[in-house]
Amino acid sequence: MDTVMAMSMIVVFGAGGRAGRAVVDEALSRGHRVTAAVRDTAKYPDLETEDVILVRADVTDAASIAEAARGADAVVHAVSPFSGPEQGFDTLDPAFFVKAADALLEGLTAERVGRLLVIGLFATMPDRSGGLIMDDPAAFPPEIKPFARAHADGFDRLNMADTPLDWLMLTPPANLSLDLPRTGSYRLTTEPYMEDGQLSYADLAVAIVDEIERPAHHRIRVPVYSH
Ligand SMILES: NC(=O)c1ccc[n+]([C@@H]2O[C@H](COP(=O)([O-])OP(=O)(O)OC[C@H]3O[C@@H](n4cnc5c(N)ncnc54)[C@H](OP(=O)(O)O)[C@@H]3O)[C@@H](O)[C@H]2O)c1
Repeated sequence: MDTVMAMSMIVVFGAGGRAGRAVVDEALSRGHRVTAAVRDTAKYPDLETEDVILVRADVTDAASIAEAARGADAVVHAVSPFSGPEQGFDTLDPAFFVKAADALLEGLTAERVGRLLVIGLFATMPDRSGGLIMDDPAAFPPEIKPFARAHADGFDRLNMADTPLDWLMLTPPANLSLDLPRTGSYRLTTEPYMEDGQLSYADLAVAIVDEIERPAHHRIRVPVYSH
């Protein structure tokens, strides 16, 4: 029988970003307690409310993860070092997602946090030919490939880890949008990648909080689409 969590303490890394904010809102709307973890609290004063504790943490630093996640039931990794092509790749650390995976594994294990939800990147998924989407220039801009490679390395790190942490990576389709509404439903699938798939950030957050409340997938990467 699935475990059903009552009110949980959820820590969201990257809480000031698009996915992070959606997860914070979804978790709050269901009565969970939320800690919003960001690198610079002064940059996100609006996140701190009566219901949200705002803390400083870097997702590549195990000590700050442990401190932020003390007493948490679940943690969400919604961090991205790259928010759009205009940013360029001069400052991208190719090991960013590996460092984040290592730091989360260390920090959360130390604090005995049970559940970790991670957001994946569609381009790291196999396509219908069996290759990776990121390797197909018609499907994914080659100039963004360093970011996709870094993401894929982070997944490999988690996937290879011998860990008690119950992690799950939910991977949205290419069209993950703030403009789409929250429908409250979504589809987790093991089917090959759907080029025409779409999902709202709000429904991605619904799927994440559902998997915190009722953990149904464990230590795997699962694509998530709208219905
Ligand atoms: N279609 C897809 O597959 C798709 C589309 C979009 C996003 N995604 C994935 O979804 C996840 C979230 O993306 P998003 O769109 O929400 O990104 P976003 O809006 O750019 O937000 C990312 C957040 O990460 C924070 N951050 C950066 N470096 C950090 C660090 N070292 N420690 C802690 N926080 C840090 C940033 O805050 P500061 O820089 O202000 O500290 C920012 O608030 C990422 O894994 C991304 O690749 C997938």
